[in-house]
Amino acid sequence: MLDTASNRPELPAEIARRRTFAIISHPDAGKTTLTEKFLLFGGAIQMAGQVRAKGEARRTRSDFMQMEKDRGISVSASAMSFDFKSFRFNLVDTPGHSDFSEDTYRTLTAVDAAVMVIDGAKGVESQTQKLFEVCRLRDLPILTFCNKMDREARDVFDIIDEIQENLAIDVTPASWPIGMGREFLGCYDMLNNRLELMDRADRNVVAESIRLDGLDDPRLADHIPAHLLTQLREEVEMARELLPTLDPQSVLEGHMTPIWFGSAINSFGVKELMEGIATYGPEPQVQKATPRSIAPEEPKVTGFVFKVQANMDPKHRDRVAFVRLASGHFLRGMKLTHVRTKKPMAISNPVLFLASDRELAEEAWAGDIIGIPNHGQLRIGDTLTEGEAIRVSGIPSFAPELLQTVRAGDPMKAKHLEKALMQFAEEGAAKVFKPMIGSGFIVGVVGALQFEVLGSRIELEYGLPVRFDASQFTSARWVTGPKAAVDKFINANKQHISYDHDGDVVYLTRLQWDIDRIERDYPDITLTATKEMM
Ligand code: G4P
Repeated sequence: MLDTASNRPELPAEIARRRTFAIISHPDAGKTTLTEKFLLFGGAIQMAGQVRAKGEARRTRSDFMQMEKDRGISVSASAMSFDFKSFRFNLVDTPGHSDFSEDTYRTLTAVDAAVMVIDGAKGVESQTQKLFEVCRLRDLPILTFCNKMDREARDVFDIIDEIQENLAIDVTPASWPIGMGREFLGCYDMLNNRLELMDRADRNVVAESIRLDGLDDPRLADHIPAHLLTQLREEVEMARELLPTLDPQSVLEGHMTPIWFGSAINSFGVKELMEGIATYGPEPQVQKATPRSIAPEEPKVTGFVFKVQANMDPKHRDRVAFVRLASGHFLRGMKLTHVRTKKPMAISNPVLFLASDRELAEEAWAGDIIGIPNHGQLRIGDTLTEGEAIRVSGIPSFAPELLQTVRAGDPMKAKHLEKALMQFAEEGAAKVFKPMIGSGFIVGVVGALQFEVLGSRIELEYGLPVRFDASQFTSARWVTGPKAAVDKFINANKQHISYDHDGDVVYLTRLQWDIDRIERDYPDITLTATKEMM
């Protein structure tokens, strides 16, 4: 059993062994490859290559999925569970394309840690930085994997400096690379004093591991050429002098990240990273909620919806709500209360996302992700409990950065269009605003690609061709404040007012200047770019 960094040692064993995490990275850094190797070492697949193959099969289900395939992007997040040693890992997949970042943000509300993958030649990239900032908002523990060390990479100290400076987090080396590019031999495991040697002949083989007696161990010379060994000794000595040593509490609080170096494609460094996740992971954490937070060891089951995926099968308007269990021991067939509507729901066919395949979930524990098929009752941000009126908080909705008007090709179908738009708004696929003056709808998204996805889904799922056109507005802000102040504000700004699918007031404009002016002229009114989904 590994020595687990823990702030809640009293957790039941089944919960304490769970590690629920996501991988964040810039596209191309190696997330897919790393995921595949996790599954390989987790015993979930027999050989690398199956994740992609399975992904392809899954994606041919509809034209919308076809579009993902054509563009080679993954739009939908999914969850995978697999075992590693005595641990149960729940890996929540995040879409890599920046246009779908809002989805990614919400996915991060369902995990207890994130693995940040960076490309050793590129360092911290734009999407890495963006995703990191979200992890920071939640003080998520972050473990870093510096990938592609088998290629020419940047100087190790430079990479570490860049992470420290750009992301304002302490970095502590968990391993130290020996050579790089064609000369890359493996790593010195600084936490366990081991030499790990990469096998270039077989990409699916775990590295040879040699226990060492410090860096003066004569066996090092048997495996490492003299010039690289001298360099390793110098660098590790410098690293020990200049860089902080690993402090598990600081990792847990998100102030420090341990970094492993490796090559996912060569399976190198992956097992050490997995051990790191098991050790510093951490176990399921307390979930923020109102009126009280939820501790994982509470015997009663609570869970919250962080993602809804609709129309996985276009013939049936079914949706799967992805639910993160925040506490308790869930059993199939349980009746839970849907807190928003106060209605009971029998959860008779929940799905557990075992990496080998989808399986009916007979049971699940705090930390696990289950899928609940439903007909639209479950929305993002919803909480399920065994009766208590408690709501998980902190699931954000972001102001869209692109706005367009949308019209049905057939004007007689306006009602149909409204229904379709509301469904996508509830699913979190887009923001839909109904202007106070005039007819029609304005759709808001974070990335332009979302318009295309939306257009093709409305056509496919509702048989309704639609047209998007430029809107006169470019920014949206939610309006809050005392009722009288909000009413006065609405009256004076009717041309700019619209309502979102929850009926909340939204101010639309094309000028940042307008937003600044309102903040000056209406001190009681608050304009926000995010809203909690409840
Ligand atoms: P992503 O999910 O983060 O977008 O990255 P992905 O794993 O798809 O990896 C992006 C590219 O980087 C792939 O090459 C992959 O094979 C390569 N790669 C991943 N890990 C390593 C590594 O450790 N070393 C090296 N040298 N390359 C690595 P591709 O040519 O785009 O795709 P493919 O033809 O290999 O599938």
